[in-house]
Amino acid sequence: MRKKVIFGNWKMNGTNAAVEEFLSVVDAQANNTEVVAGLGLPFTALSTGLKLSKNVKIAAQNVHFEKNGAFTGEISIEMLKELGVEFVIIGHSERREMFGETDNTVNLKAKAILAANMTPLVCCGETLETKEAGKTVSFVNNQIEKAYAGISKEDAIKTIIAYEPIWAIGTGKTATSQDAEVVCKAIRENLAKIYDQATADQISIQYGGSVKPDNIKELMSMPNIDGALVGGASLLSKDYLALVNYNK
Ligand code: 13P
Repeated sequence: MRKKVIFGNWKMNGTNAAVEEFLSVVDAQANNTEVVAGLGLPFTALSTGLKLSKNVKIAAQNVHFEKNGAFTGEISIEMLKELGVEFVIIGHSERREMFGETDNTVNLKAKAILAANMTPLVCCGETLETKEAGKTVSFVNNQIEKAYAGISKEDAIKTIIAYEPIWAIGTGKTATSQDAEVVCKAIRENLAKIYDQATADQISIQYGGSVKPDNIKELMSMPNIDGALVGGASLLSKDYLALVNYNK
């Protein structure tokens, strides 16, 4: 059975004080045995997050693929590992659109993260223009093929995919659960082509884009949606708990 994986992504929000306050309320109640609950935090709050969480898995929101060197402002895998970080979000559309992330750097990052026995959470998703041109599935499949190039099936099963249509992020426009299911199913079929069905069946695929307590149940009821990556709603402790305990 695939794991259900529900992560918040705090993006550029969260001082250490805010993370401390949040986790002191949330961590004990994020103890859903059927869900891996997580939180993507800014680099500066990772230590605090790791120290104060037992149930909530803490994720970084980016990493550089090189081991070290002249990359001003970047953070290496070794640096995250030293803190105890196990999960890293890569290829978020905000990083692709604003900070030059490409399919190639996503691939390099995925390989480097897996080599360090950490878990990449690989984001993909189309723009409104691509959706309106009816090219969502081919666009997303291409992103996935490039992200997984050269990655073995043994490593692929350790990854998580987040399908986040860009037009649904922070807009209040959630994809309908049926539309999200169509794309997540297509991603799984593509993984079965790249690897095999057994491998594809083990990879958890999240949906992201305006997920909220009032729509998560419906999304999670879809056969190929195994979790959620949640921005705005994950900032409020009440909503975060409603999300990670959606089935209670
Ligand atoms: P929202 O939930 O705010 O739409 O953000 C989704 C997202 O980008 C999570 O990574």
